[in-house]
Amino acid sequence: MACPENMFFLIVLFMSGVLAGFGQPDLIATMPRRLDVLTGSCVQIPCSFEIPDQHKNTFNSTISTSGVWTKEDPHFGKCPENVIFNSSETVNIYQGKITGNMSQKNCTTVFFNVTTNYANKYYFRIESQPFRATDTDTFVHIVVRDLPSSPIINVSGEVREGTPVSLNCSAIAPCPEHPPELTWTLPTQFTTENQLQENPDQTKSVLSTVTFTPSYLNHKMNITCTAVYPVGTSNKTTQHTMMLNVSFSPKDTSASISPADPVLVGSCVNLTCSSTANPPVTTFTWFQICGDKPMQVASGQSYSLNVTVGDGGLYYCEARNSHDCGKSKEVQLDIKGQEEPVNAKVFEIVGKTLGLLFLFSLIVFFAWRRRTSRLPSGFDMTDRSQGQNSPPGTVCSNQATVGRGNQ
Ligand SMILES: *[C@@H]1O[C@H](CO)[C@@H](O)[C@H](O)[C@H]1NC(C)=O
Ligand SMILES: *[C@@H]1O[C@H](CO)[C@@H](O)[C@H](O)[C@H]1NC(C)=O
Ligand SMILES: *[C@@H]1O[C@H](CO)[C@@H](O)[C@H](O)[C@H]1NC(C)=O
Ligand SMILES: *[C@@H]1O[C@H](CO)[C@@H](O)[C@H](O)[C@H]1NC(C)=O
Ligand SMILES: *[C@@H]1O[C@H](CO)[C@@H](O)[C@H](O)[C@H]1NC(C)=O
Ligand SMILES: *[C@@H]1O[C@H](CO)[C@@H](O)[C@H](O)[C@H]1NC(C)=O
Ligand SMILES: *[C@@H]1O[C@H](CO)[C@@H](O)[C@H](O)[C@H]1NC(C)=O
Ligand SMILES: *[C@@H]1O[C@H](CO)[C@@H](O)[C@H](O)[C@H]1NC(C)=O
Ligand SMILES: *[C@@H]1O[C@H](CO)[C@@H](O)[C@H](O)[C@H]1NC(C)=O
Ligand SMILES: *[C@@H]1O[C@H](CO)[C@@H](O)[C@H](O)[C@H]1NC(C)=O
Ligand SMILES: *[C@@H]1O[C@H](CO)[C@@H](O)[C@H](O)[C@H]1NC(C)=O
Repeated sequence: MACPENMFFLIVLFMSGVLAGFGQPDLIATMPRRLDVLTGSCVQIPCSFEIPDQHKNTFNSTISTSGVWTKEDPHFGKCPENVIFNSSETVNIYQGKITGNMSQKNCTTVFFNVTTNYANKYYFRIESQPFRATDTDTFVHIVVRDLPSSPIINVSGEVREGTPVSLNCSAIAPCPEHPPELTWTLPTQFTTENQLQENPDQTKSVLSTVTFTPSYLNHKMNITCTAVYPVGTSNKTTQHTMMLNVSFSPKDTSASISPADPVLVGSCVNLTCSSTANPPVTTFTWFQICGDKPMQVASGQSYSLNVTVGDGGLYYCEARNSHDCGKSKEVQLDIKGQEEPVNAKVFEIVGKTLGLLFLFSLIVFFAWRRRTSRLPSGFDMTDRSQGQNSPPGTVCSNQATVGRGNQ
């Protein structure tokens, strides 16, 4: 109606359809189904085409071929203004350029200065002598946005304390001449590497890979990947924030006794173990120091006991998750009436002091013996005195997390 040439065009199309073999496409164009583009920026449409077998004789690739883009409808006869780009013309509705080499059937096209009314479906057509054809089945859907969509962060596998990890952040680059710049914000030191890469549908993305070594202190902290798109003389910024899930062995393991005061034989006492770990602690184990050796006495986060004469003494707990375990400091269960602990402590202190003096004399002795070689370092002594505090024969090897002054 608005475009009366319509009927004529349809007849022509029908005739060419009959001549070509009905149902066969006249042109096979390949392009992405959808492109998300930014207003004010450019858009590159990756495009290539093939001439179907039945037209191979008609198409002469040595003759220069022009490319035409129509919007909304491939049958432009009805509305010539739907022809928004014709590479034979110098002035077009859309400012653009076919950047691909048409002789190599590469119809990659860039349109500049995208505005919101560019949102549409676009069909490709070639025109040469004597062959002209449109792929009426294939179109690219251009979606125009004022603000860029958020970049995407990818984590592969577990983020584990002390183990270097790499995360990817990717942001689409619909206008590859002006790709976004990606930056990271992390709670720890890191290195990054950025590159422009091609997606399977030939569109481009910027990929940024960050590498860092997380600590358990980074658990539940945020990391951010920011994409800055240059648009004209300004920038458009978007970002993606992700909370880190760092898995770590039990930390801050501690044991407590309730009630804390000396108790009577026959009364009830609870020993409670606490710890933080990711994934959470699966087993708590209780040990009592018997003589010099730890004895496993219970499992479970709380250990309730009806106190008997033999229960007084030192206890500690061990928390374990799938990674490792952590050990608490020792706690003292005092029993009323058994006032030996004070004397025992005195003896212990005297004993330890004597032991240290003995060690010291030994060291002096060896230092004197091996005067010419290097002196034994002070660290040996420290190591040994720590050794007294971590009883041998325990399964928990995670000494570093226990530490924290076993005075
Ligand atoms: C293609 O066009 C060139 C130049 O016009 C001509 O020389 C050649 O014969 C043509 N080839 C075919 C197969 O028509
Ligand atoms: C493209 O431009 C050429 C040269 O002006 C013209 O002959 C042709 O008809 C145009 N194609 C379309 C689809 O408008
Ligand atoms: C097509 O041309 C574009 C733009 O020049 C180029 O980036 C792309 O690699 C070419 N595609 C192929 C398949 O050669
Ligand atoms: C396009 O491709 C043809 C044939 O492969 C080649 O001769 C020509 O130099 C290319 N043109 C450009 C601009 O690269
Ligand atoms: C397109 O943008 C460029 C700068 O990116 C500007 O110089 C030019 O005037 C714009 N053209 C139109 C038609 O808006
Ligand atoms: C990050 O991208 C690189 C390159 O494409 C890939 O080899 C790697 O597997 C990706 N890593 C993640 C975590 O997705
Ligand atoms: C992490 O990000 C979320 C949402 O993005 C925010 O609600 C939260 O406060 C952030 N946490 C920290 C520690 O910054
Ligand atoms: C845009 O961002 C770049 C860094 O990505 C910066 O160098 C430039 O100064 C910014 N321009 C404006 C106008 O903010
Ligand atoms: C503790 O055990 C003794 C003897 O078996 C019993 O008489 C007493 O009631 C128990 N105390 C508690 C608090 O269970
Ligand atoms: C010990 O724990 C039990 C339950 O776990 C509770 O009923 C009891 O009151 C606690 N006793 C003390 C002395 O805290
Ligand atoms: C965090 O990581 C732990 C250990 O890998 C896992 O068990 C847990 O499900 C994760 N939590 C979330 C919210 O992803």
